[in-house]
Amino acid sequence: MPRLAFPDGFTWGVATSAHQIEGAFQEDGRGESIWDRFAATPGRISDGSDASVACDHYHRWRDDIGRLQWLGVNAYRFSVAWPRVLPAGTGAVNQRGLDFYDALVDALLERGIRPFVTLYHWDLPQALQDVGGWGSRATAEAFVAYTDAVTARLGDRVRQWMTHNEPWCIAHLGHEDGEHAPGHRDAAESLRAAHHVLLSHGWASGVVRANATGAEVGIVLNLSPAFPASDSEADRDAARWFDGFFNRWYLDPVFRGRYPADAVADRVARGHVEGPVPAFVRPGDMEAIATPLDFLGVNYYSRTVLRSDPSGVPRRVDGVARAELTDMGWEVYPQGLHELLVRIGREYAPRKIYITENGVAYSDGPDEARRVNDERRVAFLRDHLVAAHRAIADGVPLHGYFLWSLMDNFEWAHGYSKRFGIYWVDYTTQERIAKQSAFRYRDIVKGNALDGVTP
Ligand code: FCB
Repeated sequence: MPRLAFPDGFTWGVATSAHQIEGAFQEDGRGESIWDRFAATPGRISDGSDASVACDHYHRWRDDIGRLQWLGVNAYRFSVAWPRVLPAGTGAVNQRGLDFYDALVDALLERGIRPFVTLYHWDLPQALQDVGGWGSRATAEAFVAYTDAVTARLGDRVRQWMTHNEPWCIAHLGHEDGEHAPGHRDAAESLRAAHHVLLSHGWASGVVRANATGAEVGIVLNLSPAFPASDSEADRDAARWFDGFFNRWYLDPVFRGRYPADAVADRVARGHVEGPVPAFVRPGDMEAIATPLDFLGVNYYSRTVLRSDPSGVPRRVDGVARAELTDMGWEVYPQGLHELLVRIGREYAPRKIYITENGVAYSDGPDEARRVNDERRVAFLRDHLVAAHRAIADGVPLHGYFLWSLMDNFEWAHGYSKRFGIYWVDYTTQERIAKQSAFRYRDIVKGNALDGVTP
């Protein structure tokens, strides 16, 4: 049978985040997070739900680790909840909150599964939001203290650390577009937030290295290749604009120590920031942000197609003609992963790349035989792994792949209405059922290869 083999030692994992799976809001001294507050505000979550129970992973984690073992993955990406560790955001460390992750890490290592830990996956302590959140520089300082608390406890065992998950979502969705917590609509604040998130990444990476000798530190960016809707100059400019706003605003500071001039000029023209250097940038900040990374985490879901608009802010074109769309309305576009990885390798030359998230929402549920036949996800997985494999063949230093997600979970503003898992979750009984994609992923991981695909 033809097969596409991955390099020896390739990292295979699944990814989750604390807020989306843990539940147990009131337990062991956990403090309130901005997502608790946001979800409690009517109209913010499309199905009116919140994550107070979610997948009840806080109580069922041992069984969930059993699922990782069954899948055969050699790595697991999860996040630590800041409000468990520092319920008030700063100050006294709540060791009971850390006990949970301590036990999780030990259990993973006993089973030969390497923990990849994300420090911040969006659940800011509400107490910090009350004094300015990411719009305030003090939150970057608080993140350093939080990083110190977590890495002091787990740094002897965890070898891979990610500071932040998707700064664009934190900054833009949370502060400009308002779709995510804290739900602000303030462009100037969103740019400050982006800067403070990036700055805290740079500062914290030194702390991780000090507490976890020899560990690898990275940041996770959500990236999407931008395509013009037509060949017109205006549409091509729209694609350039989006690339600056979404991709380069984060890649350039991290790898080159500067914000992209064209994207800054656009923000200046729209009155969101002063130019040529925004006032929130202080001496030394850009050098700190550009501290060399051990790896870049790439989250890839889709490409973005852009059309120019007379308002001056280009429009995204959803649902390109004939394209297959997921339950999120995102286009299935596997070749975009190859293009993206090759471009990052060429233009930014990271030492290592891990795909830290890739996956898809489809609503398929159990049939009468309690089987979940999620064929479309199986195809999605295959096609994206083919694209990843091509990137490796083209010389991109891709070292691993994490499927989003282990199980269906609380999908932020969509509540439980979008299912990304390879395990289906019944939210009333907390039963989990391995979907066909879980069986398929298990085979891929076991063989370190895609069977039935010609190189
Ligand atoms: C990413 C998030 C992750 C999940 C997926 C679908 O943006 O990092 O938590 O919601 O999208």
